[in-house]
Amino acid sequence: MKKQKCIPLFLLLTLSFYGVAQTKKHLDKNKNIEERISLLMKEMTLDEKVGQMNQYNGSWDFTGPKPEGGSEEEKYIHLKKGWVGSMLNVRGVKEVRAVQKIAVEESRLGIPLIFGFDVIHGYKTLSPIPLAEAASWDLEAIKKSASVAADEASASGLNWTFGPNVDISNDARWGRVMEGAGEDVYLGTKIAAARVKGFQGEKLDARNTIAACAKHFAAYGFVEAGREYNTVDMSHSKLYNTVLPPFKAAVDAGARTFMNSFNTLNGIPATGNSFLLRDILKGDWKFNGFVVSDWASIKEMISHGYAKDGADASSKAAIAGSDMDMESHLYVKELVGLVKNGTVKESVVDDAVRRILRVKFELGLFDDPYKYCDEAHEKATIGNKANNDAVLDMAKKSIVLLKNDTNLLPLKKSGLKIAVIGALASDKNSPLGSWRIAADDNTAVSVLEGIQKYKDNKLMYAKGTDVSIGEQLFVQELKINTTDFSGFEEAKKTAKDADVVVMVLGEVGFQSGEGRSRTELGLPGNQQQLLEEIYKVNKKIVLVLNNGRPLALPWASENIPAIVEAWQLGTQAGNAVAEVLYGDYNPSGKLPMSFPRNVGQCPIYYNNYNTGRPENTEANVFWSHYSDVEKTALYPFGFGLSYTTFKYSNLKINNQNPKKGESVEVSVDVSNTGGYDGKEVVQLYIRDVAASLARPVKELKGFELISLKKGETKTVRFTLTDKELGFYNNNGEFLVESGIFNIMVGGNSNEGLISKFELK
Ligand code: NOJ
Repeated sequence: MKKQKCIPLFLLLTLSFYGVAQTKKHLDKNKNIEERISLLMKEMTLDEKVGQMNQYNGSWDFTGPKPEGGSEEEKYIHLKKGWVGSMLNVRGVKEVRAVQKIAVEESRLGIPLIFGFDVIHGYKTLSPIPLAEAASWDLEAIKKSASVAADEASASGLNWTFGPNVDISNDARWGRVMEGAGEDVYLGTKIAAARVKGFQGEKLDARNTIAACAKHFAAYGFVEAGREYNTVDMSHSKLYNTVLPPFKAAVDAGARTFMNSFNTLNGIPATGNSFLLRDILKGDWKFNGFVVSDWASIKEMISHGYAKDGADASSKAAIAGSDMDMESHLYVKELVGLVKNGTVKESVVDDAVRRILRVKFELGLFDDPYKYCDEAHEKATIGNKANNDAVLDMAKKSIVLLKNDTNLLPLKKSGLKIAVIGALASDKNSPLGSWRIAADDNTAVSVLEGIQKYKDNKLMYAKGTDVSIGEQLFVQELKINTTDFSGFEEAKKTAKDADVVVMVLGEVGFQSGEGRSRTELGLPGNQQQLLEEIYKVNKKIVLVLNNGRPLALPWASENIPAIVEAWQLGTQAGNAVAEVLYGDYNPSGKLPMSFPRNVGQCPIYYNNYNTGRPENTEANVFWSHYSDVEKTALYPFGFGLSYTTFKYSNLKINNQNPKKGESVEVSVDVSNTGGYDGKEVVQLYIRDVAASLARPVKELKGFELISLKKGETKTVRFTLTDKELGFYNNNGEFLVESGIFNIMVGGNSNEGLISKFELK
């Protein structure tokens, strides 16, 4: 038998002594983080450095196409070798601890992993979908909602969320509008900051906070025709004025990570875009956290036609500034060789690794890699009462009252016969919305359950029709029912003699979100027919909408007396809707996206440009319009009613001729003139009338959410400075130009009191 070669014992001892003695230095908490990173990096081989740039999926929750290779066994070997810096979709204290143990206890340097997950609107206790939350315009509530999400996610072993999504989008066809804050850059910027602060809290190393990730950098919300993953082509002025500000706000709020977007931007994939990543993000904005690719987006540069193979894609992505590879499995394969053959400088790798380690140190993972792994805490936190109360509060604030003719709402609490119609009314799954991968199925309070709590009315229920048929799994195409009308008759019978009919219609939970672009924006399936059939037997209908995007509902808007936009409101959805229907909560939400009249108007947004022919002055066809439908939105951005009414008066501007650098104060009186206490979002819009680049017809530049008791009046004050009055040109220069500024203050983007001033 051949004698096995063995390493002499003294050498082993020296090696282990050497390893331990050297690597422990970075664990000294008294040293500052940068010093600790340098000490650790001195110990790392090139393979181990590249390993930090590699992120693997935990395999059971797939949130993208399956990669080639990447078997469990290979991942385990790579973890042991220190070739993995992060895992995504590993969740739950038991699982996280087991995987962390391999990295910390079985790899040479024991560098802890950072565990990422799509905590988009809650972890298990779900808040409304982000677009719905944006409708609250309540920054404190939105921040709180993110902190509840962080509380549960961190209790479950996680330390990093892939959120917030800060993509501005004005195209309801794009399914991912449900994840963002809507069409407006000003509102989006405020919400981006609130969400980052909510996730990250005051201290990143607290046990109940997690690192945020601003995504998708950049311009993903402008994919052509709203088709998922499509191309983006846009001017630099639009990029600077509309797309980038929420990302900048996220950096300013302290976001520690960024994620690339899938799209190309003016021909260059965002993942390999050094203008975005090196020049703007890491250069101008001095961002010192790290950038993770989106799922396989490094590899997808080959399909885009921007890289010829995996090596080319890896070098382009790394050089451009993508620090971590999510599920392309390319950095781990290619980067060491690319450094050795001189294609990629080792300094590029060093910079990426330093950024990744920095965030890990900041999270406190080196001080205690298992700090998020306490099963008792996990049990006590997830789904606790405080978290349910918080998401209920957020859900109520997110509801928008779109129509309430004849004051059908609020409902009387006794003596009514109420017919509830629609499969979505009893659905305990759809209100959870898309991106709820840690939540258990069917855990939402349905609308029907919510309404049932008001016991002194008589309730009757008929589903009428199904929206989707078959499975609603995340990874499957939805099958929408268009042919089964068998439930219509029973629904009509149920509705006929009711005092009021509550119809819950709209999209099922997985009808929006990633990979869910639509070319129709009406009620899916045969729900529109159901609505019209019920209307024939009973006109007193309250339509409760469930949807993850703006819908186009011209018939309902004209005929149905009351419409409540209830989105997908999360775990407590039904309770929130019931409180609003019964007037225990007076709705105050305002739309964060314009609702079109039909899909052909998309993209439609309030802050559009005037064109040279905005109006029909001569009664001919030569003006900017459609010949078959009005060009305005059905429900404009910022719109939402209350059970009470508000009156605006006394608009004042303190300085009619301010100079650049001076501030202007705009004030307005708002009175509650109706019969209920209520809340109103007071909105200020400007128009820069003539500038060196044409400016939008209106731009939101301030808002305030106020509470007013019946009969009460409050004065609301806004301050405008160069920051609000200026804009970026196509070179990315911020300009403040003199001239006239129109001002409008009101309760939505379409109406308000107007005035103006001239900036000298
Ligand atoms: C792809 C999505 O675009 C991104 O938002 C998400 O964070 C990753 N998949 C991980 O699930």
